[in-house]
Amino acid sequence: MGSCLIGAHCLVLALFLQLALGNGGNVSYDSRSLIIDGQRKLLISTAIHYPRSVPAMWPGLVQLAKDGGANVIESYVFWNGHELSPDNYYFEGRYDLVKFVKIIQEAGMYMILRIGPFVAAEWNFGGVPVWLHYVPGTVFRTDNEPWKHYMQKFTTYIVNLMKQEKLFASQGGPIILAQIENEYGYYEQSYGDAGKRYALWAAKMALSQTTGVPWIMCQQWDVPAPVINTCNGFYCDDFTPIHANAPKMWTENWPGWFKTFGSTDPHRPVEDVAYAVARFFQKGGSMQNYYMYHGGTNFGRTAGGPFITTSYDYDAPIDEYGLPRLPKWGHLKELHGAIRLCEKALLGGQRTNLSLGPLLEADVYTDSSGICAAFISNADNKTDAVVEFRNKTYHLPAWSVSILPDCKNVVYNTAKVGSQSSIIDMVPEDLEPSVVSPSRDLKALHWEVFTEKPGIWAEPDFNITGFVDHINTTKDTTDYLWVTTSLDVENNELFLKNSSGPVLSVKSKGHALHLFVNQKLQGSASGNGTIFPFEAEIPVTLKAGKNEIALLGMTVGLQTAGPHYEWIGAGLTNVEIKGLSNGILNLSNFTWIHKVAVFFHCWCITPENNILEIGLQGEHLNLYKGDGLNSANWVSASEPPKGEPLTWYKALVETPSGNEPVGLDMIHMGKGMAWLNGEEIGRYWPRKSPKHEACVDHCDYRGKFSPNKCSTGCGEPTQRWYHVPRSWFKPSGNVLVILEETGGDPTQIRFSKRKASGICSLVSEDHPSVSTETWNTELRETKNAKPTAKLSCLDGSHISSIKFASFGNPSGACGSYLKGACHDPNSASVVEKMCLNRSECAIELSEENFNLGTCSGIIRSLAVEAVCS
Ligand SMILES: *[C@@H]1O[C@H](CO)[C@@H](O)[C@H](O)[C@H]1NC(C)=O
Ligand SMILES: *[C@@H]1O[C@H](CO)[C@@H](O)[C@H](O)[C@H]1NC(C)=O
Ligand SMILES: *[C@@H]1O[C@H](CO)[C@@H](O)[C@H](O)[C@H]1NC(C)=O
Ligand SMILES: *[C@@H]1O[C@H](CO)[C@@H](O)[C@H](O)[C@H]1NC(C)=O
Ligand SMILES: *[C@@H]1O[C@H](CO)[C@@H](O)[C@H](O)[C@H]1NC(C)=O
Ligand SMILES: *[C@@H]1O[C@H](CO)[C@@H](O)[C@H](O)[C@H]1NC(C)=O
Ligand SMILES: *[C@@H]1O[C@H](CO)[C@@H](O)[C@H](O)[C@H]1NC(C)=O
Ligand SMILES: *[C@@H]1O[C@H](CO)[C@@H](O)[C@H](O)[C@H]1NC(C)=O
Ligand SMILES: *[C@@H]1O[C@H](CO)[C@@H](O)[C@H](O)[C@H]1NC(C)=O
Ligand SMILES: *[C@@H]1O[C@H](CO)[C@@H](O)[C@H](O)[C@H]1NC(C)=O
Ligand SMILES: *[C@@H]1O[C@H](CO)[C@@H](O)[C@H](O)[C@H]1NC(C)=O
Repeated sequence: MGSCLIGAHCLVLALFLQLALGNGGNVSYDSRSLIIDGQRKLLISTAIHYPRSVPAMWPGLVQLAKDGGANVIESYVFWNGHELSPDNYYFEGRYDLVKFVKIIQEAGMYMILRIGPFVAAEWNFGGVPVWLHYVPGTVFRTDNEPWKHYMQKFTTYIVNLMKQEKLFASQGGPIILAQIENEYGYYEQSYGDAGKRYALWAAKMALSQTTGVPWIMCQQWDVPAPVINTCNGFYCDDFTPIHANAPKMWTENWPGWFKTFGSTDPHRPVEDVAYAVARFFQKGGSMQNYYMYHGGTNFGRTAGGPFITTSYDYDAPIDEYGLPRLPKWGHLKELHGAIRLCEKALLGGQRTNLSLGPLLEADVYTDSSGICAAFISNADNKTDAVVEFRNKTYHLPAWSVSILPDCKNVVYNTAKVGSQSSIIDMVPEDLEPSVVSPSRDLKALHWEVFTEKPGIWAEPDFNITGFVDHINTTKDTTDYLWVTTSLDVENNELFLKNSSGPVLSVKSKGHALHLFVNQKLQGSASGNGTIFPFEAEIPVTLKAGKNEIALLGMTVGLQTAGPHYEWIGAGLTNVEIKGLSNGILNLSNFTWIHKVAVFFHCWCITPENNILEIGLQGEHLNLYKGDGLNSANWVSASEPPKGEPLTWYKALVETPSGNEPVGLDMIHMGKGMAWLNGEEIGRYWPRKSPKHEACVDHCDYRGKFSPNKCSTGCGEPTQRWYHVPRSWFKPSGNVLVILEETGGDPTQIRFSKRKASGICSLVSEDHPSVSTETWNTELRETKNAKPTAKLSCLDGSHISSIKFASFGNPSGACGSYLKGACHDPNSASVVEKMCLNRSECAIELSEENFNLGTCSGIIRSLAVEAVCS
């Protein structure tokens, strides 16, 4: 807003803006709902974590949530991203919390601020700064003075920052709820009486902040009023808050799940997500939050774990790259529209429930003015039902809810997905040499390389017998920790003469390691997202005389939750050599040479801590950013080495053409980290999931969901592409830096553009014939339209061809539809006439459009696949 010269005018303008934006107002509540400025609110909330995208994406993500029918954005606050060392705060770039909240305010939406400041969130160390673990006497999340001191200090800092900027609703801002702690109820008992005291203290401390908005604690069963306990889970329809005057609120509805390197790719079917949401509102819920609505990316080393992938896509309604995931986004948008049509009855009416048969239920909301809305549900996980409700019959698919905003017409059924779907491709584009590249040969990329010498590269700090804890030693200033020793092999060792060589056997608390002997990589080992510790036997090539043994241990994201999680360590516990003449040689009582992070300013890699000599030499030299990019250590290479461990690569590349989101294709690389223009893309590791793990071709949405129910990608890399936000590119001369640990082929690295290559619609005659759009809210009635297939190009382009169209009984999914025995031969020409050269089109399943004589007696449908360009 421009500057205001006259006070009164400014006040009026500010008030006007507040009203126009729908923010602000005093927030209270009763057992039915939150009440903002005297009005009951039905809240559809969407989690978007600000540091998991970039500021340039925020307005678009918030708008897409609003277009998807949400009126609230929810985020955690990420303590370890903000308080880099005690009293050293950071709120720039992806951590510009105030900017994020203001974008929400400008969009006219509310916000739920989950301060925590412990958050779990699959985020490194659960969001708590690693330095706090090293403040003497600190025990996390219990009645412990240092913990409470730092927790209160940070909470107060955030609350004051929000107050300063007038961002609480009580001040006219968008924040309507705040959360303290996070899912502590699961662990409280592990901390005994101190846990109980701590939970009460946290609630009191929060209340003492006087924000003017209510506080919530999720998954916490002993909250003191007026703090409200809320539910997290795949389903929360059965949830009842412990205080009778508190509304029923669902802080985490998981529409998908996270991934770990080496695991499969989980999906939650949208029919089941919609079912859970509809059931929640059916049963008196008034606030529901999708965790996540946009999962985004764990840039840099922010992923927790161990082993959480850099992608935090979460199978969420908006994908990692910021595109709507279809049909999930659209089907939920229609759900939100249907729920909104019932808002008046839901919030102002009385609920009565009646049984329509086993597992069949109707919940009816009516008020004295005669308005009526109903939700009827079939909780049977196998059998469809026909029910009678108010003298009409309704078909209810198994595991579904129908929504009737007038108690007569179904506008929505959770299991009938009629909204558009799409085919998303990652279209490869070669890395192009930058025009400002110093290389004369503009056809080839100019690579520069720095190869690390395996082992400790600086003066050792201490030599001890055996091993220390990895995390205690690095203090998470780096993933990497070298330990080295030497081993004398006698000339008369038998294995020197025959082919069966010795093996090195390791035991580790986690997370991964690479073994070098005499500077050569011998092998690697790691735990996984299910079991972090590991044991391995790695064949080694030893020579007679002195052998240098160097083990590069690494963490892959620190623990995020669990009782006393901050004490869970990592690193080697035992090393032996097997296959020598004397049998097993125990190396654990050898002298191992170590480096230690003696002091640090930051939990992450920043210029301030580059004096640290722990980790890799390239990290110390800052090879990935700032002056380090021009470091004399970089050596030109006409052909970059392939399959070479511990190698840093640098190339100047052009910005990929177009404006689609970009991913870096790392399928031909081993494991490491990547940066563009000094921005941290994150850890990459195209580690494959085991082939034998159960994956499904077709997912049955019916029945209770669990994270492994509907996985894909068995035997494939868990994560192949790594999001590089468009805003990180400069017009030219982009510096791409790769740190490869084990060996890969950098010439095969590609950018890939994320693009919808096709859009589809499949609608059948039994789809609710009334849509939320044709419903007239004023008159509470509807034009009786026919089921309609709708197509809309995502990016303002036009439909250039119809790849498939069939009215009849087509089968298959978007991208692979097949005609059935029943097919109207005019389908393609009808659809072409209505859709070609348009950015969107709608095709009614009507007699005018199609030959309804086609195979009478069955429920027919129309399937269309179109190409936009
Ligand atoms: C909230 O209530 C207080 C006290 O009742 C009042 O001073 C303030 O103006 C109200 N705020 C808004 C945004 O309505
Ligand atoms: C109505 O809901 C209550 C509370 O959930 C339940 O105990 C009761 O059995 C339900 N009644 C019918 C007829 O389903
Ligand atoms: C259903 O039909 C019966 C008998 O015809 C009638 O008494 C009743 O009022 C009807 N109920 C509704 C909700 O229309
Ligand atoms: C540790 O051992 C190495 C190699 O034997 C030696 O160079 C170094 O001085 C020792 N350092 C300390 C701190 O003892
Ligand atoms: C090779 O050496 C191993 C001991 O390292 C011994 O057990 C084995 O019998 C030898 N094999 C042959 C063929 O000599
Ligand atoms: C994780 O490692 C354990 C122990 O090695 C193994 O049993 C399990 O199958 C692995 N799980 C996955 C998903 O790879
Ligand atoms: C890390 O160091 C602390 C302090 O010396 C010690 O109490 C703790 O047990 C160590 N952690 C592990 C996992 O070894
Ligand atoms: C190896 O030596 C270490 C340290 O002396 C000891 O703790 C460990 O138990 C030994 N391992 C075996 C297999 O004997
Ligand atoms: C390690 O321990 C074994 C007995 O477990 C002993 O024979 C050996 O001398 C020890 N080695 C060192 C380097 O201390
Ligand atoms: C379906 O419901 C039945 C009865 O409640 C239950 O035993 C079964 O495990 C459920 N199956 C699925 C796939 O959810
Ligand atoms: C679509 O546009 C193209 C080129 O502008 C034109 O040749 C074609 O006839 C148009 N098709 C329809 C169905 O309007």
